[in-house]
Amino acid sequence: MSMLITGIRELVTCDDTVENARGRTNADLTRGLGVVPDAAVVIGGGSEDSAPAVEWIGPADQAPAADWAIDLGGKAVLPGFVDSHAHLVFAGDRSAEFAARMTGQPYDGGGIALTMAATREAGDAELRDLLAKRVGEMRSQGTTTVEIKSGYGLDVEHEVRALRLAREVTPETTFLGAHVVPPDRRGAGGREAYLDLVCGEMLAACAPYARWVDVFCEPASAHAFDGEESRRVLEAGRDAGLELRVHGNQLGHGPGVQLAVELGAASVDHCTYLSDEDVEALAGSGTVATLLPGVEFSTRQPYPDARRLFDAGVDVALATDCNPGTCSSSSMPLMIALAVREMGMTPAEALRAATVGGARALRRDDVGRIRVGQRADLAVVDAPSVLHIPYRVGVPIVRALEV
Ligand code: NIG
Ligand code: FE
Repeated sequence: MSMLITGIRELVTCDDTVENARGRTNADLTRGLGVVPDAAVVIGGGSEDSAPAVEWIGPADQAPAADWAIDLGGKAVLPGFVDSHAHLVFAGDRSAEFAARMTGQPYDGGGIALTMAATREAGDAELRDLLAKRVGEMRSQGTTTVEIKSGYGLDVEHEVRALRLAREVTPETTFLGAHVVPPDRRGAGGREAYLDLVCGEMLAACAPYARWVDVFCEPASAHAFDGEESRRVLEAGRDAGLELRVHGNQLGHGPGVQLAVELGAASVDHCTYLSDEDVEALAGSGTVATLLPGVEFSTRQPYPDARRLFDAGVDVALATDCNPGTCSSSSMPLMIALAVREMGMTPAEALRAATVGGARALRRDDVGRIRVGQRADLAVVDAPSVLHIPYRVGVPIVRALEV
C-alpha cells in the first residue's frame, strides 16, 4: 500500500543534498533546511517488521499516483523530532522542588533520591503506563525518535527493570546506573562499593537491554561522579559492548566534555559551562554537543551560547532531557523556541539541531531527515511554514503524522 500526501506548502527535508528552493518567501530564513515548496510525498511499505518508508519526494504537480491520498491543505512538514536525551521511566512528583527553585533554591541533584524511592516503589504496570503516557505526549508534539535512560532505580533489580520497560518503546536505551550514588550507599566506603556494583554486576545485568552507557559527570555535585570515576564507568560500559554518552558540564566547569571527546562518546549533553578548550576539543571531534535549554529554563542557570559552538564548527543537537528534576517538559517545539530566544540559534539551526542533529547524537542516519528510502517519520505543522514553530511558542501546532 502506498500513500500520497499533498497540500504540503513547505517540505523541510533537512537533507543537505536537497538545495533550498530560491526566490520563495522565507528562502533566506530557511536556508540549510533543504526546502521543497508546494511538495508531495509518497510513503510506502510498512509491515510487522519494517517501518513505512519514503518512496518519492517532489513538486506536487509531478506526484505519481498512489493507493490512497491525503491533502494537508497547505501545511508545513518536517522530519519528526529526534529527542536524543530523556529520562522517562520514573514515578513520583517533584513539582515542589521546581517551585522552590523559582524562589532561589539551587539545583544540586539531591532530589534524584526522591524519584528513586518513588520509582522503586511503583509496580511494572504503573511505570509502563507512565512511560506510555510520556511517549504519547512526545508524539503529539512531533517527536518520533526518543532516547530513554535508566537512572532512577540505582540497584540491580530496578535498573534492569527500567531498561526492560524502555526497550519496549525504543531501541535507544541508555544505562545510567551512574546517575548518583544512592542515599543508602553514601556512608564510608559506600561510594567505591557502589561504583564497583555499577561497573560489575549491574552493568552485566543491564547491558542486554541497553545500547548506550551514560554517567552524570559533575564534580560540583556531591551526589554525582568526578572525572576519574566517570572514566571508569564509561570504559566498563564500552568493554561490555555499549556505546558512550555523557552528562557533562551542567552545574559548573568540569572534565565531562574533555572526557567525552577523548573516549569518542557520541554526545556530551548539557554543556552549560564550556571553556575555550572545551569548545576547541568538541570542534575537532566526532562528539555532538547536545544542548538542553529546558534545563536552564527550569533551574534558572545561564543558557549556553550556541553561537559560540556553531561558529567553532561544533555539531549541535537539541533535546528535552525530560525528567522529573531539571526539565519536566517533553516538548521539542518549546526547546526550539528557547534555543532561538535564549541561546542565539536561528530558527533553521534550531530545527536542524532538533532533527538531524539529534540523529547524529544517536549515530543514526535513518531518522532526522526526509529522504527517499528512509523511515517515513514525519511531523506536520498546522501553519504554512516551520518558522511558526518558535514563532507560535506554547501553541500546539506540531504533531507526528500517523501513517
Ligand atoms: O539530566 N543531571 C542529571 N540528571 C538529570 C536530572 C535528574 C533529576 O534531577 O531527577 C539531568 O538534568
Ligand atoms: Fe539528563
